[in-house]
Amino acid sequence: MALLIKNIKKLVQTEEKPAKKVSGKDMSKVNTIDNAYLFIEDDKFVDFGKMDNLTDDTVFWENKEFDVIDAKGKMVFPSFVDSHTHLVYPASREIEYIDKIKGLSYEEIAKRGGGILNSAKKMREISEEELLKSSLGRLDEIIKYGTGAVEIKSGYGLSFEGEIKMLRVIKKLKRLSPLTIKATFLGAHALPPEYKNKREKYIDLVINEMLPQVATEGLADFIDVFCDKGFFTVEETEKILEAGARYGLRGKIHANELDYSGGVQAGVKYNALSVDHLEYVGDEEINVLLNSETMPTVLPGAAFFLGMVYAPARKMIDFGLPVAMASDFNPGSSPSGNMQFILSMASIAYKLLPEEGINATTINTAYAMDVSDILGSIATGKKANLFITKEIPTIEYMPYYYGTNKIDTVILNGKVIKSGID
Ligand code: NIG
Ligand code: FE
Repeated sequence: MALLIKNIKKLVQTEEKPAKKVSGKDMSKVNTIDNAYLFIEDDKFVDFGKMDNLTDDTVFWENKEFDVIDAKGKMVFPSFVDSHTHLVYPASREIEYIDKIKGLSYEEIAKRGGGILNSAKKMREISEEELLKSSLGRLDEIIKYGTGAVEIKSGYGLSFEGEIKMLRVIKKLKRLSPLTIKATFLGAHALPPEYKNKREKYIDLVINEMLPQVATEGLADFIDVFCDKGFFTVEETEKILEAGARYGLRGKIHANELDYSGGVQAGVKYNALSVDHLEYVGDEEINVLLNSETMPTVLPGAAFFLGMVYAPARKMIDFGLPVAMASDFNPGSSPSGNMQFILSMASIAYKLLPEEGINATTINTAYAMDVSDILGSIATGKKANLFITKEIPTIEYMPYYYGTNKIDTVILNGKVIKSGID
């Protein structure tokens, strides 16, 4: 199967020589082609350029059968890559959100058995089928908003059975969904109450029982720990990252959301693929990250929803770091997986230029889930995951006109998945 998209007003984020990630000043550069065409064969991009160059005799695929989409007035972007979510969850938590409105902090809610523990309780009651069904619904929703690849974490099981159940669901989602999906084992998301006075027993369960089973069944691509005040310590985090490494799982950790937790340093020490949240990041953390292969990942949805301080993303870029931005889609701190909103937040709250926001939500998040060789930009040979916008005036309009869906058509793996989106 082949597909030609023609008369594209602007083809956004094309790369001749694909980069694995973009850092510092380079984040403000996004290549675009005006009045362009894009040719897809099977599930890959095979050719693109200016419409002027699309003459019959330059078309090396002239004898092939292909569909044509006329994108007049519309733009084409590579799909968003959402490198941090918890979108497999048993139930929404809007009631506890009222406690937040009344002024309770995230930690206070956690201490009262709310938060992650609330989800863990409900996880015990839900069947694998129901969990799968609700998660597929959420995947369908994020596809409409332009996501083409997503990382999904466990972490609401907090027991052997619960964690394995979640990860088996994620494995099924990989098979059932057109999205590219990566799974992360987050057994150390919160300490279950029954382990209150025996923390080390829980760490032992994570390392010596859950992890071997996760590895045997091939259930995870990465490993995560919530390394923060009131959750897991640096020492515990390092133990878990070290154990994960023995099974070939790189870390993607929750760090520095609630305090200067040492999580960033622990992540870098164990060559984590990403350290995520980063509300509490100072010069020391920035310097550690500068000498690393770890992607600093900011989660604007959580900071916005919880009313936290915003991570110093602008400063990180000005100091030469790459920055990725993901949704953190979860029922407690970020009940939205809309990456168009994250792109808007990048500019509105973090003062990133639209181009920086685009890089932060595509190629750098692709790096943060280890798929930047196949996703995150429009380059020959990369997977044909893209969206066609509605008629929009400029690329700057994408972050600016926030809160509505500006996407008309979604193509994943070279196939039209949705068109005429409202
Ligand atoms: O990324 N910070 C830790 N974990 C999640 C919250 C999950 C929840 O509250 O359910 C987060 O924000
Ligand atoms: Fe998270």
